[in-house]
Amino acid sequence: MKKVIYYFSGTGNSLYTANKIAQAIGGAELVSVRCNPQDFSAADADVIGFVCPVYEWDIPGTFKKFIQQLDINPKAYVFMVATYIAVLGKSFETVQKLLEEKGTKLNYGRAIRCVASQCIAYPPFPPEKIMLPYMEKQIKKVCKEIQQKKERAYPRMSPITRRRFPKIMGPYLAIEHEYDKGFYTDDRCKGCGICQKVCPTRNITMENQKPNWNHHCHGCNACVAYCPTKAIQFKTPQAYRELGTLITKILCLPEKRKRYHHPLIKAADLMRDNKTIQPEE
Ligand SMILES: Cc1cc2nc3c(=O)[nH]c(=O)nc-3n(C[C@H](O)[C@H](O)[C@H](O)COP(=O)(O)O)c2cc1C
Repeated sequence: MKKVIYYFSGTGNSLYTANKIAQAIGGAELVSVRCNPQDFSAADADVIGFVCPVYEWDIPGTFKKFIQQLDINPKAYVFMVATYIAVLGKSFETVQKLLEEKGTKLNYGRAIRCVASQCIAYPPFPPEKIMLPYMEKQIKKVCKEIQQKKERAYPRMSPITRRRFPKIMGPYLAIEHEYDKGFYTDDRCKGCGICQKVCPTRNITMENQKPNWNHHCHGCNACVAYCPTKAIQFKTPQAYRELGTLITKILCLPEKRKRYHHPLIKAADLMRDNKTIQPEE
């Protein structure tokens, strides 16, 4: 039986979750969004999973494009698990819509609350010592349900969020391509290239042994969180300053702020594009 889980992860919460599910369901192929979907088709898969974070009340645009290009077996059991902090928005509805276009649907959808990873907007919260055991508990439940191929209606966007989405997220998403103009490195950068290798959107190229951001960034913070010398800094780009909304006003990265990534997901894990996960012993 072929089982495959496609994932997007910046700071490891989603990759950690995908790993755990793969083990629990008796092993699976884990495929990063960095891969070419045509090379990792799900046309002959019996179990298909999508695991990703919620960004701006939706799934990351790169993950959307990936699913759009993916061949899917319409008879497969399909699940989606989203990691998030507080607002799911239309994440599940987006995936459901993409699947409907392919003649199939989500059989199961659940969200897992994690430590917030957007360290350029605010310090990671809630504290890891509270949130990591709670995350573990939620993952255990999800693993059990997916193992049993449970059917579960996916969470929908609340009417309030639906009404607010265009006004709050619209202007922000319109200038998302400007976001990475805020990144620069200080003299601690050793040119190791880890930032380039962990970036889930392949947005970073190395030029003269320094990272260069190429304007298709979702602000996932992988480069910031996994930089071994804390050399990557952020200065609010002009377009964001001009927008002047609450979120754009609070963008900053103080030296003392913790740069969160899931403690059990190392840079090497995020660098791997695909991996066969063995069943849990
Ligand atoms: C750019 C960005 C946008 C985010 N937007 C949301 C959001 O709209 N709602 C929410 O609940 N969490 C949001 N989060 C939090 C992430 O969904 C959460 O930390 C997730 O577990 C990160 O997954 P990862 O570690 O696999 O990258 C956001 C995080 C980032 C970096």
